[in-house]
Amino acid sequence: MPENKQRNRPVTVSTLARMKTDGDKIACLTAYDASFAEIAERSGVDLVLVGDSLGNVVQGRASTTSVTVSDMVYHTRCVAAGLSLPLLVADLPFLSFATPQDAIDTSRRLIGEGGAAMVKIEADATDTTVVETLSRNGVPVCAHLGLRPQQIHKTGGFKIYGRSKTQARELVNYARQLEAAGADLLLLECVPSALARKIAKMAEVPVIGIGAGPDVDGQILVCYDALGLTSGKKPRFVRDFLAEKGSVTEAALGYVDAVRDGTFPTPDESFDA
Ligand code: KIV
Repeated sequence: MPENKQRNRPVTVSTLARMKTDGDKIACLTAYDASFAEIAERSGVDLVLVGDSLGNVVQGRASTTSVTVSDMVYHTRCVAAGLSLPLLVADLPFLSFATPQDAIDTSRRLIGEGGAAMVKIEADATDTTVVETLSRNGVPVCAHLGLRPQQIHKTGGFKIYGRSKTQARELVNYARQLEAAGADLLLLECVPSALARKIAKMAEVPVIGIGAGPDVDGQILVCYDALGLTSGKKPRFVRDFLAEKGSVTEAALGYVDAVRDGTFPTPDESFDA
């Protein structure tokens, strides 16, 4: 089985910051269990996210809003068992970070019981106090901006975020404010490529994209999507790496290679303004 021979130290927030400075693309995938986590690690993935997308792809729910903190702790612990070097990030699920104290309590479980090294929150400018509190208490934070699936009942659907001038301005401001509050990483979901490029250029911390075009500091995909297991209509930004490669291990390696050499995503896998 092919192995990643390059890395011998755990990936940290500083590793990712250095990759941004050096112009090395950051390859990220989601995982929900130890078996795929091992494959992701051997493929050279830098960051593994236990996303609350597990509500969709593991639990078969229409939205992520029913995912509980206990679900997240369970899957984070499963993934941690298969992982030693990539940075392990876990989502704070819906309504589990409504106050700074909630965010601290949830993070304590995901880090202490689950083994995560960073937490991710779906954020806007109203979440700066939460980010500040976590950061001050030594919790690395990824702020997820743009399309925020936990807001589905308010927004009414999955839409590209940032096409109007108002939204574009808003997104730039949120990114600025969340970085200033202490976010160590920004994640942009379904954002027009030019706007994502502008935010990645402006931000000092790395910016990871999903459906945010090629000109950000790294990419992430839901592992089931990268393996051709998308249920329903395949989103534009998804590529089935298993179809191209033929085995799960080769697919994960193909994904990492394509992120690193900038051949994923193409303009056809991205959104225009
Ligand atoms: O929950 C998740 O898997 C995510 C990714 C889509 C980035 O947030």
